[in-house]
Amino acid sequence: MLREGQFALDLLLPLDREAGRLHRQIEQGLRDAIRAGRLVPGTALPSTRSVARELGVSRGVVTEAYAQLVAEGYLVARQGAPTRVAEAPEPSAPGGRASRRPSPAPYDLMPGRPDLAAFPRDQWLAATRRALRRMPDAALGYPDARGTPELRDALTAYLGRARAVAPDPERTVVCSGVTQGIVLIARVLHERGERAIAVEDPGFHLHRWSLERAGLEPVGVPVDEDGLDVGALAATGARAVLVTPAHQMPTGVVLSPERRAALIAWADAVDGLIVEDDYDAEYRFDRGPVGALQGLAPERVVYAGSASKSFAHGLRLGWLVLPERLATAVAVERLALDGGAPVLGQRARAAGLARGDLDRHLRRTRREYRFYAGRRCSPRSPSTRRAPRSPASRRGCTRCPPARRRGRGGAAQRAGAAGVAVQGLGALRVTSTGRPGSCWATRTSRSRRSPAPSRPWAPWPGPEPWRRRRTAVQGR
Ligand SMILES: Cc1ncc(COP(=O)(O)O)c(C=O)c1O
Repeated sequence: MLREGQFALDLLLPLDREAGRLHRQIEQGLRDAIRAGRLVPGTALPSTRSVARELGVSRGVVTEAYAQLVAEGYLVARQGAPTRVAEAPEPSAPGGRASRRPSPAPYDLMPGRPDLAAFPRDQWLAATRRALRRMPDAALGYPDARGTPELRDALTAYLGRARAVAPDPERTVVCSGVTQGIVLIARVLHERGERAIAVEDPGFHLHRWSLERAGLEPVGVPVDEDGLDVGALAATGARAVLVTPAHQMPTGVVLSPERRAALIAWADAVDGLIVEDDYDAEYRFDRGPVGALQGLAPERVVYAGSASKSFAHGLRLGWLVLPERLATAVAVERLALDGGAPVLGQRARAAGLARGDLDRHLRRTRREYRFYAGRRCSPRSPSTRRAPRSPASRRGCTRCPPARRRGRGGAAQRAGAAGVAVQGLGALRVTSTGRPGSCWATRTSRSRRSPAPSRPWAPWPGPEPWRRRRTAVQGR
């Protein structure tokens, strides 16, 4: 990628003096570089004088090319400042390709994001500076693939206190989010001969997809108001299950005490494994805190958590607490994958956790999120007013009125057309047997007016590879 301050030669503009008008060739070369992303938005171009000198053409030729690209919206010129690549080039010339950036929905209620504007930047900056200053040289070597001892100790203290996890730093593995943790576990299970894993239906489609990619077949099990249906789970024949007990994703229900006991009894009976995704556990406003399932059966349950819902998903910071029989194998997988997490971030986080950064951040954001917790996405719609309230947390499911006419699309599609970005439940279902017309939305929103283009679960530029219907539910 070309960056600011490079000279004309670095623009790699091919000029063929026999091939016609030179300014057109320069224009086309720059246009291609911008479209291909070789020249990124905001890049300052060299002056017309220096480009002319490098290319051996008159300055007027380059000036004409720049002026044309400014007129087309590819470049921005300001007096006294270098000409720059436009922030979001919107070609206006005939035949120009339309920008593929999605335009932001005016009201962005896409779930799954914390309030990123609340991220405590100063705190993290100070913690990172301190960690770097105090880090001995030896700590810059290859880390323990499970995570630095300081971070595993700090996590142990926090998870034991706040989530009732039965903690053990020797069985803790730092990973880049719950998603990577799930992949590590799936690989170990696959190596040990497992071929299927039960998952909640509806449930998080990207984790199903990750499981599949690691060689396990996800088998959907229905969820009701008490959480996962353990009877239906037993009928699947699977010996491993992925659950979200503290906040079922997406319905928001909590796994009831009876179901918790039944789930652990099931795992004992089949010598199985429960993977507990402690999704969104920090933000419940309708009840007291629900402790982690892992604390009840540390040898049957893998605990998986991350900073994605409390701080920011872009941090890619997560952790696993494992049963003894899996701890070494999962650490070996992590070692094989990438050698472990970067040490500087780990040391900064360890110090931050020990100083109570997470507790302070949770107190602050809970106040904000509580405000939105009881709200619906569409208070003016009579049919959403009649819908049963989903549990008070910062995300919730809302039943939407059916389309009046055929072909108007699903609830999320129609909401999108009206300028409200929400997540339809269709993608989250394993089977297509659920009721149509539900959508899932966040209620947290400083982003009531979207600050940025909305990116529905698509950290992926092309067609979404996880969009494939999965195995039918057994025992339903
Ligand atoms: C059910 C569920 N679990 C966990 C996560 C967080 O995953 P990660 O920690 O990999 O960001 C998400 C993300 O939205 C999720 O939907």
